[in-house]
Amino acid sequence: MMSDVKALALLEAFLFAAGDPIEKDKLADLMEVSAQRLDLLLDQLKRRYQIDVWSGLRLSEINDKVALSTKVELGESLSLLFDPRNRQDLSQASYEVLAVIAYSEPVTRSEIEMVRGVNSDSIVTRLIERGLVEQRGTLDVPGRPGLLYVSEQFLADFGLKSTKDLEAVDLLMYDEAAEYPDEETEIKLNELAAENADSGRQDAKDRYSNETVVIAIDGPSGAGKSTLARELASRLSILFLDTGAMYRALGLKALRMGLKPSDEAEIQQMLADTDLDVELSPDGQRTFVDGIDVTDDIRTPAVSQAASDISALSVCRHFCVDRQRALAERQSLVLDGRDIGTYVLPDASVKFFVTASPEVRAKRRYEEMLQKGESSNYDDVLLEMKQRDFNDSNRALAPTKQADDAIFIDTSGRSVADLVEEMLDLVNKKMNENADVPERD
Ligand code: DC
Repeated sequence: MMSDVKALALLEAFLFAAGDPIEKDKLADLMEVSAQRLDLLLDQLKRRYQIDVWSGLRLSEINDKVALSTKVELGESLSLLFDPRNRQDLSQASYEVLAVIAYSEPVTRSEIEMVRGVNSDSIVTRLIERGLVEQRGTLDVPGRPGLLYVSEQFLADFGLKSTKDLEAVDLLMYDEAAEYPDEETEIKLNELAAENADSGRQDAKDRYSNETVVIAIDGPSGAGKSTLARELASRLSILFLDTGAMYRALGLKALRMGLKPSDEAEIQQMLADTDLDVELSPDGQRTFVDGIDVTDDIRTPAVSQAASDISALSVCRHFCVDRQRALAERQSLVLDGRDIGTYVLPDASVKFFVTASPEVRAKRRYEEMLQKGESSNYDDVLLEMKQRDFNDSNRALAPTKQADDAIFIDTSGRSVADLVEEMLDLVNKKMNENADVPERD
């Protein structure tokens, strides 16, 4: 069997030569190693780049593909030398959105939503930031009338003179996106344009996508914030941002790197080489660290504790808060967290402070764990919950606190359905009040 040293060198050489993301299966075949051994080698290489401050590289994983890319903080310097070419860390959803735009340009955001069946605004915004998509002109329809085209950079990256040269195989690295044949897309888009023109059918969904509404839900762990936030977002047809997931993702990275989540110097160094990204859709949030989807790995008790520790560090808060504000600037959102109404978005349209007694919250968490088949003990869960409450409420920076203008909601003994109805009424009331306030010159 090939030694680890040789296998690592070969792996690095293959990734370097491939340039594009390469399927792990294919890589394992080329290297003549098992999938399991390849995973171990990839882990080793990834750690090497993370630890090695002299290296300008990192290893990115997207779905089942891997690629070498440059460290995030070097991006600006590199762009001085090279055109930002064909960034390979696009998610599957981003490729789908690109495909819809490229095949149907010009399209509006609503039209993309119609084709994909999910709100893709945050993805479109990211593609615009990356220079792959441009907005030129607007359509005379209500809602989101901006007309989107793919950019010159997109054409250069995909080796095309114009989108007319586009063949399915050129762009569609992912099979799913190929499911949108031209004609079908066009029919769907025409139907949507007709629907949009019918302004008589404005429901809550249109209302809140035209008029930006930001709803902040703060409160301690286990109060039911995320369940309520998710449900409220769905009822208003806007997106939900779980800010706790961001701190959890960073806590997980620290644990995986063997760092102490409360060590400011170590964490600061880690953050300098961390790419944190969230993909929002009505189906739920996916959270990515350094291009890796960690959504399913961040709900363990160890990560909860790491998130609580890491979130007390100011470097970490700035890192996350900047991203949260940028997301809320572009679109309507429901956000849940600890400091959304007090610090992140003090001008949020509606603020809730949601809580329940520690015993009720611990019981919910305990039952949740049992349901997932995790062994646990109620007393331990209660103790851990109280410890985390203490941590989160007594830290110097952004402690869990009710904003003066937040609506207090005690969820003890109440059903989700009942709470959501109450919150929806309050949102409507508040939005109408806000609309009635005359604007000052
Ligand atoms: O809501 P949660 O349990 O997923 O949050 C995980 C940790 O992150 C929690 O202990 C406190 C911290 N957090 C924070 O400090 N600020 C936020 N806006 C969200 C979470």
